[in-house]
Amino acid sequence: VSLKESFADNFLIGAAVNDALISLKDSLGANLIKKEYNTITPENSMKWMYMEPQQGVFEFETADRYIDFSTKNNIAFIGHNLVWHSQLAEWVEKITSAEELNASLKNHVQTIAARYTGKIHGWDVVNEALNEDGTLRNSLFLEKLGPDYLVNSFKWAEEADPKAELYYNDYNMTHVEKRKGAIELVKMLQKEGVKIDGIGMQAHWGLEDPTLEQIETSILAYADLGIKVMMTELDITVLPNPWDLEGAEVSQNFEGSEQMNPYSDQLPDSVATQLAKRYKDIFELFVKHSDKISRVTFWGINDGHSWLNNWPIEKRTNYPLLFDRSYQPKAAYHSVLEIK
Ligand code: XIL
Repeated sequence: VSLKESFADNFLIGAAVNDALISLKDSLGANLIKKEYNTITPENSMKWMYMEPQQGVFEFETADRYIDFSTKNNIAFIGHNLVWHSQLAEWVEKITSAEELNASLKNHVQTIAARYTGKIHGWDVVNEALNEDGTLRNSLFLEKLGPDYLVNSFKWAEEADPKAELYYNDYNMTHVEKRKGAIELVKMLQKEGVKIDGIGMQAHWGLEDPTLEQIETSILAYADLGIKVMMTELDITVLPNPWDLEGAEVSQNFEGSEQMNPYSDQLPDSVATQLAKRYKDIFELFVKHSDKISRVTFWGINDGHSWLNNWPIEKRTNYPLLFDRSYQPKAAYHSVLEIK
């Protein structure tokens, strides 16, 4: 059995992948992708700074390799992402005229979406456009182009690749204010008549937060918009977040402190059990709503390459995924499979 076989009737099961895996420098990892997952998302390589590092100069090589790998292995490919304020190329940030920014955005979206027409299952067209209070994030794009940049990005993506599903993707999507904002954003796009197929809840979660109830309410609220709901970047941190600690003013103060990296040698059994239970609970909920959920993607495959070893504080030892640092399945893997 594998994850993808176990949940075949429910939703796609995916992972974010990085270059070593696809270049076959990491054959254990590549084999595991083929065995366990039926969809992949590139963790970094298709972000703006890598795809168009200089104005009008596109680097397709890595993305091409990913897409070949997924086509050959019958794996649904998720493009991540076309429009985001982060990991943007420096030249974009230096643009001062609205006209030039709009033309650059259009060229970026159209060129990339057009190149991979027919090969992409879905695009994260816009990533993280919302503030925590549900208002639109004051990115360069909003500042210079207004909310039109959202509508236009979806339009351009649809024109270039009419068959790809198009998504809005963000984090903290279980928070009340942000959820309201995301719903408004989708309704605005729908009102403008642009195609939006789904909403991605990144699902960077903790052992207790968000609650199952918050997750469920959110799934139902997004599904009510008549679009697909996806968990697009699932991982469960077992480490404290600096902003949750009392008296935490500057996260940097905690860097390297034992308090912030309590399991640097090994994860205690009690926490491994808690993690397994947490994964089981959320997967039970996903299965319960699998008529609404089309995909569950983990943000990484094994604990060793999770970004959570370096975020929000660098150089910690985190254990957020289903496979350990040697690609062995953890208790959490087995507990997820037990559901079925
Ligand atoms: C992260 C990657 O995992 C890191 O390797 C990189 O340094 C920063 O970006 N939301 C997203 C992802 O949409 O693209 C981010 O990925 C994690 C948060």
